Amino acid sequence: MFAKKTVKDIDVRGKRCLVRVDFNVPLSEGAVTDDTRVRAALPTIRYLIDHGARVILMSHLGRPKGAPDPQYSLRPVRRVLQRLLGRNVVFVDDIVGPEAQEAVARMVDGEVLMLENVRFHPGEKANDPEFAEALASLADIFVNDAFGAAHRAHASTAGVAQYLPAVAGLLLAREVDTLTSMLAEPERPFVAILGGSKVSDKIGVIDRLLECVDVLLIGGGMCFTFLVAKGVDVGESIVEQDWVERAGEMLKKASERGVDLMLPVDFVIADQIVEDAETKIVGREEIPEGMMGLDIGPTTGELYKGAIATARTIFWNGPMGVFELTPFETGTREVATAVARNNRAASIVGGGDSVAALKKFDLEERVTFVSTGGGAAMKLLEGTPLPGVETLLDKDA
Ligand code: 3PG
Repeated sequence: MFAKKTVKDIDVRGKRCLVRVDFNVPLSEGAVTDDTRVRAALPTIRYLIDHGARVILMSHLGRPKGAPDPQYSLRPVRRVLQRLLGRNVVFVDDIVGPEAQEAVARMVDGEVLMLENVRFHPGEKANDPEFAEALASLADIFVNDAFGAAHRAHASTAGVAQYLPAVAGLLLAREVDTLTSMLAEPERPFVAILGGSKVSDKIGVIDRLLECVDVLLIGGGMCFTFLVAKGVDVGESIVEQDWVERAGEMLKKASERGVDLMLPVDFVIADQIVEDAETKIVGREEIPEGMMGLDIGPTTGELYKGAIATARTIFWNGPMGVFELTPFETGTREVATAVARNNRAASIVGGGDSVAALKKFDLEERVTFVSTGGGAAMKLLEGTPLPGVETLLDKDA
């Protein structure tokens, strides 16, 4: 159970609630192209409105350099939020200056106001105490609902909690609860699927998962570092040479713990990563010089689908190949479909690329839980404390 206080544990009526959300959404030509993160924040925002709070929203968007930059303005997100909430959202171009202070002073109970991108201020990423205190001075309560940014020790995610009573929003609580209980009490068999290009990004998660899963399926570019550790020649496929030894240790750990760590047995190969690439299917020992493995092959797909079908808990992070390109999408599509088809399992998907794959194959609604946090979910799973969670009030405080 989530050990921190949430908005439901405190009285918010008539209070100015400074709510950190993660509205770091993709934009194209000034319009939001994916509103998932905005939708995910609605339960907390609605709860606060319904309970008579004054809701002051703050978020980052993109990676501006600590100064205003119009391409990262949150204004387009405000339009989306207004539509989803069906009510007006006041927007201020300011964060902690007089304009923001005056707009907050004018608020009435149940009203929603959105501040401009907190990363327009240099104090945000520096977790500057003065900036954190200035943010805190706008409100009576701090609510952190930005799970996606909870691994950042910034002023709006952690620093501000030093100056105000700090509680979790409903999304953050649900994310932490879902991911921690998946590790602590999974229904078995527990099958994890990891992909993506780099082992180095995921070694901590692999290490931790090996302590609780029954089966670990590995695909994507990272599998080649494991194959090299087993002495396989992988042609021009992506390999992180510095991580071969660590990958070897993970193989050993899996066998010591009785985890069935499966690596691909065949691949779709090509010599170029392009939409009209000429491809071939080969066994994993047969990747010729000059060629790269860019997707798992059909035999691997069948083996992985079989493992996924037996699971009662599934965790999936990272694609099986370069799924953005048609010639290399099949492995990821098959894995995503197998996850979606297993109705008896709790299926949890985390990380930007696997979520993008679910969307591409229109399977997003068919899994149990899609995490809104990529980096944050990985940090939580590897057991690293999240500053955006640690700083909140304990349930029994
Ligand atoms: C994310 O999209 O992963 C979060 O919003 C964090 O963004 P950041 O990596 O720019 O801190």
